[in-house]
Amino acid sequence: MVLQWYPGHMNKAKNQVQDRLKQVDIVLEIVDARLPFSSRNPVLEDIIGQKKHIIILNKSDLADPQRTKEWKLSFQQEGLAVIDLDAKHTNALGKINSAIRRELSEKIAKYENNGVKNYQIKAMCVGIPNVGKSTILNKMVGKNVAVTGNKPGVTKNQNWLKTSVGIDLLDTPGILWPKIDDNRVGLKLALSGAIKDQIFAPDDVAIFALSFLESFYLDSLLTVYNIEPNDLRNKTTPDILMFLTNKFGYKDDYDRAARKIINDVRKLKFGPVTFDVPGEFYEE
Ligand code: G4P
Repeated sequence: MVLQWYPGHMNKAKNQVQDRLKQVDIVLEIVDARLPFSSRNPVLEDIIGQKKHIIILNKSDLADPQRTKEWKLSFQQEGLAVIDLDAKHTNALGKINSAIRRELSEKIAKYENNGVKNYQIKAMCVGIPNVGKSTILNKMVGKNVAVTGNKPGVTKNQNWLKTSVGIDLLDTPGILWPKIDDNRVGLKLALSGAIKDQIFAPDDVAIFALSFLESFYLDSLLTVYNIEPNDLRNKTTPDILMFLTNKFGYKDDYDRAARKIINDVRKLKFGPVTFDVPGEFYEE
């Protein structure tokens, strides 16, 4: 495992989220819809405790719609509130506002019964880097706010950002670390571009991608690279990478072929792909 753990940073991030939690009614946990398991940090649920919380499967435009349905069901079965979202291209505010009001309906009703009309809701976004926290914040506020101090351990004064729908948002999202104690999680984060390309060797990531595509998106794999099922028969995944390197005309440049395969996945050549399969991490 090439990844390093920084327990100091982890603790700072955890404390920071914990501190801010007291100031909000609800936490928006932003997750990559392609990685509903791998882009979560399980520590968050411990920190959150009884606080209301919505999982937002963001970048749903890049994820397999069928898998998104399955993941939503699986979270709902655990009793968690969940929505899918394409924050980049759609109106995040409307969808998140409805979800927040659904989750906080009892609290809002209580305030209303006590004569408080238009209770100003306070929310914060949390998530690992790159899942779209800043994009969502900006979309909800309706303008480009500079999201600063966007690193664990950076202290700054907190400001509330106003939305047009009676929700205030903390201006600094809470940053969590992905929990990479399983090699598959690391490879998936690398393949999706959520962690730096330098962390894993491209051929490891591409071999993982090929094996994943062969298992779950075989038709797309065959069509995109114009190959026959026979071409894959009796080949290990490294053999398939060698075969494709040759087919791409890259001679022995496996790294180049690996980078192409990774880019093809990221550019949706195989269609929208979800890398986490519900249930896969609970079976062993
Ligand atoms: P962060 O604060 O959680 O670190 O994430 P941020 O909002 O910076 O988003 C990371 C990247 O993901 C950005 O792309 C952003 O545009 C993209 N993104 C956010 N939400 C969505 C979504 O729902 N769908 C898609 N397709 N992309 C999304 P970038 O390439 O780094 O920047 P940009 O060139 O898009 O501005």
